[in-house]
Amino acid sequence: MQGKFKRILVTAALPYANGPVHLGHLAGAYIPADIFVRYQRLQHRDILFICGSDEHGVPITITADKEGVSPQVIVDRFHAMNAASFADLGISFDNYSRTSLPLHHETSKEFFLDLYSKKILKEKQDRQLYCEVNKMFLADRYVEGTCPVCGCESARGDQCENCGTWLDVIELINPKCKLCGATPVVRSTTHFYLPLGDFQSRLEHYIRSHTEWKDNVIRYCESWFKDTLQDRAVTRDLNWGVPVPLENFPHKVLYVWFDAVLGYISSTKEWARRTSDPEKWKKYWMDDGTQYIAFIGKDNVVFHCIVFPAMLMAKGGYVLPDNVPANEFLNLEGGKFSKSRNNAIYVKDFLATFEPDLLRYAITANLPETRDSDFYWKDFQAKSNNELADIYGNFVNRTIAFTEKNFAALVPASGNLNDRDREILAVLKKTPATVGALFEKFKFREGTAEVMNLARAANKYFNDSEPWKTVKSDPGQCATTVNICLQIVRSLAVLFAPIVPFSSEKIWNMISITTPLSEELWDNAGELRLVTGHRLKKAEIVFKKIEDATIENELQKMNPPESEATPEKKMLPLKPTISLEDFRKVDLRVAKVLACEAIPKSKKLLRLQVEIGSERRQIVAGIADKRKPEELVGKAIIVVANLAPATLMGVESQGMLLATQGDGDSFALLTVTNEVDSGTWIK
Ligand code: MF3
Ligand code: ZN
Repeated sequence: MQGKFKRILVTAALPYANGPVHLGHLAGAYIPADIFVRYQRLQHRDILFICGSDEHGVPITITADKEGVSPQVIVDRFHAMNAASFADLGISFDNYSRTSLPLHHETSKEFFLDLYSKKILKEKQDRQLYCEVNKMFLADRYVEGTCPVCGCESARGDQCENCGTWLDVIELINPKCKLCGATPVVRSTTHFYLPLGDFQSRLEHYIRSHTEWKDNVIRYCESWFKDTLQDRAVTRDLNWGVPVPLENFPHKVLYVWFDAVLGYISSTKEWARRTSDPEKWKKYWMDDGTQYIAFIGKDNVVFHCIVFPAMLMAKGGYVLPDNVPANEFLNLEGGKFSKSRNNAIYVKDFLATFEPDLLRYAITANLPETRDSDFYWKDFQAKSNNELADIYGNFVNRTIAFTEKNFAALVPASGNLNDRDREILAVLKKTPATVGALFEKFKFREGTAEVMNLARAANKYFNDSEPWKTVKSDPGQCATTVNICLQIVRSLAVLFAPIVPFSSEKIWNMISITTPLSEELWDNAGELRLVTGHRLKKAEIVFKKIEDATIENELQKMNPPESEATPEKKMLPLKPTISLEDFRKVDLRVAKVLACEAIPKSKKLLRLQVEIGSERRQIVAGIADKRKPEELVGKAIIVVANLAPATLMGVESQGMLLATQGDGDSFALLTVTNEVDSGTWIK
């Protein structure tokens, strides 16, 4: 921390309360943030660690729709679950709030109204996608389509997961409603826009003044600055979220990202209300003496480096992030972590079998700090057994057990030092500063490796010193060896505390240090603090080894053998019941395909000329990847004949053909035999 700062504010991205947190989340933000915070607390710095659940946004309402419950039910469930996972893992937030709280709604409304009254927000009519089947605007993740940037076919309305581009729904190619699969129409609606362009030069100046930021973050921001920043809508036509606090705008809420980032502020307010001074939050947010660090995963960079700073600049008086150490992604066994593809390891499941410290260490030793990294179960086992248990744990246990056996569990006096003693003491002395400097630069992986190196060196020192021999041959030397080893045990417990805090507690207890946090300081971790004659408690195993069978079991859960892999038949939930009258509104007809051709420059679209009785129609269908044009000619298909026309890639479609797309590649076009004439009604 640079000298000019009096205090540190740390935030970690608010996870969506839409599913359990998984290992990918931990590697992105929470573990690095927690190590940083715990390290700073050992420096006795004034530091506040803020987080909470992000409880708005379309993914949550989609989950709620699927289950047929209200969004509140969903967020209550996952908020509780995730708060418990973080607590069990020892993520030491000072406050873990939720964005559905009234305090957060008030905070967000106030913020919005301030920008509105200063005329910073622009009110504009603009085009949005509207689903005529569901009778709603399709905001954000209610639509999927092809990414205009990378061509990925499953880009969502707000962001392409594949290339990370932040999208506007209207930019999606071949959009489809996530709820019903229909092609939405374009309708205009009024929204409030944040004119990012007005802040561009200030944002550029801000980012460019932070040359110390991680390369990946700077590069990403610079790619945004190549073009003029566009106005971005900060309101949505939805009914779940923070309501727009203006009359005449019913059924509109704030865009989830607009309110979510403000969750950091409302969570700080909530924390302050629990203390004796409810105004204390201002000290962290509104005083220049604060160094604000925002930990996030790389998919959140634009919101934290561009949108949120622009919002804070617009509001005025708030500190901006001093650093945004975004991590890359953690992959799982060579594939992407993905909740939707059921390829994820949830923290709660993990902790049902393994100690939290094992997970903290495995993730830390493998953090995706500069590039994506992988979680492999075998690697997890190796890190736990070969490093935590065999190096750190073994050193601690053999030292304490040896003291118990040969020195009546009392710290023996150190005598004359030999070269080996001096050498290990020199390593010990420099380690806290070396590791601290790495942690200050957010290099947690390297810092952790340095701490493990000290444990490795100490283990070797124990071996090379052979105290089990000198105990007879040279008791003075033996006492010195054991004294030094015990000092290092204490030091390791301090240096490892930010990484594997539960083990440090165990070790402090074993060496009878009762109030570690007030007595132990990072800076004196290299000193020899245990006094001669200090009494130890019983040695206990710090890290148990993980059996092969346990890991095999986990691997099997992930990749069930082929025979078991048959997925249970999953069906999308049924839509609400409709009356016969509703159904009769849909005019289904037999149509004969007269001609068919691919639409140039489109991978998916075919243009069909069909005959419906006496009428000729043109229909555009997104089935080019499933059927060749010549396969369709002459077929009698079924079309929705009274659908409002739509334009796809500039080509008008006067109806929709019926087809069904199953899992994987399965696909069928609905056809009838040529025994019925085209134009025949289907009822
Ligand atoms: N909920 C978002 C996600 O999981 C992160 C929100 S971070 C905040 O990607 F700043 F908006 F809170
Ligand atoms: Zn893309």
